[in-house]
Amino acid sequence: MQVSVPFAPDQASTYSGEVDALYGFLWALTIGVGAVLTILIIYFAVKYRRRTEDEIPKAVEGSLKLEVVWTVIPFFIAMGIFTWGASIYYKRYSPPSEALDVYVVAKQWMWKFQHLDGQREINELHIPVGRKIKLTMTTEDVIHSLFVPAFRLKMDVVPGKYSSIWFQPTEAGRYHLFCAEYCGTSHSGMIGWIDVMEPSEYQSWLSGGSGEALAASGEKLFQQLGCVTCHRSDGQGRGPILEGLFGKEAALQGGQKVTADEAYVRESILNPKAKVVEGYQPIMPTFQGLVTEEQLLQLVAYVKSIGKTQTGTNPAGASPSPPNKMGAAAVPTGPPQTGRSGGAEAKKPR
Ligand code: CUA
Repeated sequence: MQVSVPFAPDQASTYSGEVDALYGFLWALTIGVGAVLTILIIYFAVKYRRRTEDEIPKAVEGSLKLEVVWTVIPFFIAMGIFTWGASIYYKRYSPPSEALDVYVVAKQWMWKFQHLDGQREINELHIPVGRKIKLTMTTEDVIHSLFVPAFRLKMDVVPGKYSSIWFQPTEAGRYHLFCAEYCGTSHSGMIGWIDVMEPSEYQSWLSGGSGEALAASGEKLFQQLGCVTCHRSDGQGRGPILEGLFGKEAALQGGQKVTADEAYVRESILNPKAKVVEGYQPIMPTFQGLVTEEQLLQLVAYVKSIGKTQTGTNPAGASPSPPNKMGAAAVPTGPPQTGRSGGAEAKKPR
């Protein structure tokens, strides 16, 4: 579905063709309808022109048939455009689980990128061609908007929450990155590059990095901040076990459920009382102001990594809920296997 739009940016992601096709259709429709209307206006102006000074035109009755036709056809065209656009929208805002995670923190006036392996970049992002990439984005100050025209990718980055979007680059190359939301004096300078590399090049680029893996930084923080004293992997802590939590459903007080995603982890750190896990007391203090957005992302990456570890080592998957449902003082019957392997995982890097 490669539609080539002249004067449009490169097509460098799987979305590019889809977005351009929709955009091309809107152009064609606009030009088509505009042309038909223009021709009709000219034709009617000539055909029904006034022929004599005292001519009185015949009265025109309405036509139900015509009115139905010009109501029903545009209705279906409009709904078709809506469905078409919505399908693209839903696809791009529902990241696949196998996507490569990249964390983005915007601030006046720069883009900071963190890779899972620990590489950090400013105003430049290196990614491998052909891989699905998921961006989890937030900002330290005002609203920004990440815009990469060649990928047909644009997403607002809003203070106090995570925005996520995913894409899949199809062509290696260097593509412009812009901020597309006016954010102050140097808004126009908040630009950068996305470097899409061949997988082998990307591997060597990755190995050149010296940073500590994001989850490892997160684990250090987890201990420094004392989280580990309550969120113990053996289930004896005053807080819920976090091993195996990520991506699962957590049962909350009041019978609600929540999917443990990035936003939930973030909220639970900054506003722990917002969603209290069933069987636990709302005793956790807030960490608002104690951790930066970047540190929050490290903590999220850590919780995510121990979530994955669990599902990986325990495919039969002692059902997702036990660790969450279990009260602090509950007898350690069900979850021990979860606890044990989680504990082993957690101890290894120390
Ligand atoms: Cu950031 Cu405009």
